[in-house]
Amino acid sequence: MNQHICQKCKATYSLNEPRWKCNCGSILDIEFRPIFDLEKIKQRKPTMWRYREAIPIQDEANIVSFDEGFTPLAEVDFKGKTILIKQDHLFLTGSFKDRGASVLISKARELGVKKVVEDSSGNAGCAIAAYCAKAKIDCDIFVPEDTSGGKLAQIQFYGAKLNKTPGTREDTAKAALKAAEKDYYASHSWNPFFLHGTKTFAFEICEQLNWKAPDTVILPVGNGSFVLGSYIGFNELLNAGIIDKTPKIIAVQSTNCAPLYKAFKEGLAEIPKIDKKDTLAEGIAIAEPIRGKQIIQAVKKSNGDFIIVDDSEIKTSLKAICRKGYYIEPTSASTTAGITKYLERAYPDELIVSIFTGHGLKSTEKMLKILSK
Ligand SMILES: Cc1ncc(COP(=O)(O)O)c(C=O)c1O
Ligand SMILES: [Zn+2]
Repeated sequence: MNQHICQKCKATYSLNEPRWKCNCGSILDIEFRPIFDLEKIKQRKPTMWRYREAIPIQDEANIVSFDEGFTPLAEVDFKGKTILIKQDHLFLTGSFKDRGASVLISKARELGVKKVVEDSSGNAGCAIAAYCAKAKIDCDIFVPEDTSGGKLAQIQFYGAKLNKTPGTREDTAKAALKAAEKDYYASHSWNPFFLHGTKTFAFEICEQLNWKAPDTVILPVGNGSFVLGSYIGFNELLNAGIIDKTPKIIAVQSTNCAPLYKAFKEGLAEIPKIDKKDTLAEGIAIAEPIRGKQIIQAVKKSNGDFIIVDDSEIKTSLKAICRKGYYIEPTSASTTAGITKYLERAYPDELIVSIFTGHGLKSTEKMLKILSK
């Protein structure tokens, strides 16, 4: 039962080989039956590894962890409506990506991998670099040239080799794919172990709500590591009989880069080529998300929807959230702008959960630029 399975040709592979794509070139998922022993979970440390038997790492000794997770679920007021917000900007590296990195680098250690490569708009690169530092695994990170300085510094201070790549975010992904021909690809978009880390968001929320699912989750989406992880997590809890429904997923994209929104709204069979423009939301500006169809299926199956927000809405929301004492990065404010938009159609007692995905301190130049305008 515990195996990789190809989304396209359905080939299966052992989880014990260092593999991140199928021989046919397509994307892999993991078939895995998680176990939830609620009594055991309750007695453990408040970290994401309290769901140990629901995470596909075999040997305890291989776990690479900084006791991350179980972030506070804060009550934040949006024009009179209380939204519960997971504060994942408080992770060790300043973004939710630590969830995926902890599981993926644990797996890399389990496989005896000596070197990994990853491409990122910055945050996933920071997370993979930090966990590689702890695991003593060599690490090459590819990022676009215009990535925020805070993220560039962080990646290098962790000891990773930084490859600033000219051109678009897509050119960065291509450069990493080339490097991944010889080294293990610790990709948050290709490698399914990452999703089995981000899924702990769903476990934590349900536990924090006394093992109840919210009605709705509002989440940012670029490559979908968060939307897909959440979808997997909620469905694992549903299948285990712990919750009796899964939440609607409302996925937020930037107006300037919204291929998934377009495909969803227009009922397209393929993710369309789009004319990507610059956006404050650098973390979700993904023109060619490789799991695009899977993301759309997940949102559809959850009875959810896509929302787009423009830079002016992101700016307004960022300022409003910071004035409440939460310092988040502009990408993260795309989600809060999405919350404001969604509330126009929410019903009065709808239980809505969302997330702060990244810390403001990472994007000082962008934050200062927003202040000066
Ligand atoms: C702060 C922040 N929020 C959201 C996202 C979106 O995550 P994903 O691309 O996996 O959908 C990212 C990705 O880098 C990010 O850095
Ligand atoms: Zn295949």
